[in-house]
Amino acid sequence: MKKRILSGMQPTNRLHLGNYLGALKNWVKMQDEDYECLYCVVDLHAITMPYEADGLARSTREIAAAYIAAGVDPKRSIIFPQSAVNTHAQFNWLLSTMTQVGKLDRMTQFKDKGGANREKVGLGLYAYPVLMAADILTYKATHVPVGDDQKQHLELAREIARTFNHRYKTEFFPEPLTVITEQGTRVMSLTDGTAKMSKSDPSDNSRINLTDDADTIAKKIRKAKSDPNPFPTSAAEMEGRPEVQNLITIYSALSGEKPQAIMDRFGGGQFSPFKEALAEVTVAGMTPIATRFRELLADTTEIDKILKDGADKANAIAQPILKDAMELMGFWHA
Ligand code: TYM
Repeated sequence: MKKRILSGMQPTNRLHLGNYLGALKNWVKMQDEDYECLYCVVDLHAITMPYEADGLARSTREIAAAYIAAGVDPKRSIIFPQSAVNTHAQFNWLLSTMTQVGKLDRMTQFKDKGGANREKVGLGLYAYPVLMAADILTYKATHVPVGDDQKQHLELAREIARTFNHRYKTEFFPEPLTVITEQGTRVMSLTDGTAKMSKSDPSDNSRINLTDDADTIAKKIRKAKSDPNPFPTSAAEMEGRPEVQNLITIYSALSGEKPQAIMDRFGGGQFSPFKEALAEVTVAGMTPIATRFRELLADTTEIDKILKDGADKANAIAQPILKDAMELMGFWHA
């Protein structure tokens, strides 16, 4: 079977360094390997939390522009909005009938997002991982490149695929594999090394946004939390220092340099020279993406065309898979 990638990001806000290092950078790389790549903007997922209806289409274009600016090539990859392929929502229903609620209860992202207010949370947020399984299975995707925080959801997607195959005595769905990058799998907040870098953190200083200019990036890195001890010289000296570990991971993921080489260079000294160097590699990595991003959004005709073409191609793959799955499930068909 052909190796096929499906992955996506929510159009809830602009992207940050965590999205880039945890997922997007890998998406770009995987285009050069032997995969058919489908990258969607998961707008159906974005409405599981309160959102502004009049900003949703714009955010969808922005995320598509960010994919392209980071190096996803619309000639080689299929870029499309999730809502433009109706099989995602249809599969969501079909697969929900083979998902145990006990499994959904254990999803940590739901616990985090739902918080103490569980009784009032929408059903969509609870069923979010089923829609995610639908996203993947509607293309029979074999590989899913994501950051570490999505692992649990993907484990569930695999279980749902297994349940379908078992229930209908078939090998219809491949069990999709999670692809996690070596570095940058889990980029942490710049202000708290124990919390993940996230678009929902109220402090903008906690993250590097894709759209930050060079001065803002440098300022945020200078302010990033470290500690009063000297810069570590070995992995052992990084123990119990999550902020320091995070900054070294970011440097390593952006520059390709191994953490030990970074420690050999800066170890034993103060943090300021390291932070200056980190600001430099971050600016060098991110500002060309931000520039391209702004250029692409200056005229949305091109983005809209890419999304429309992508939706056509995605539909052409997904519709027959839905049809076959429904046949296996015994539905009437002419
Ligand atoms: P989302 O939109 O929250 O994040 C998009 C991608 O960025 C990764 N990521 C991170 N990686 C490293 N460090 C961080 N601090 C960090 N923050 C985010 C995420 O792991 C993700 O890969 N449920 C998904 C979207 C989705 C999806 C799918 C993904 C919907 N359907 C099908 C794959 C396949 C989400 O909310 O990602």
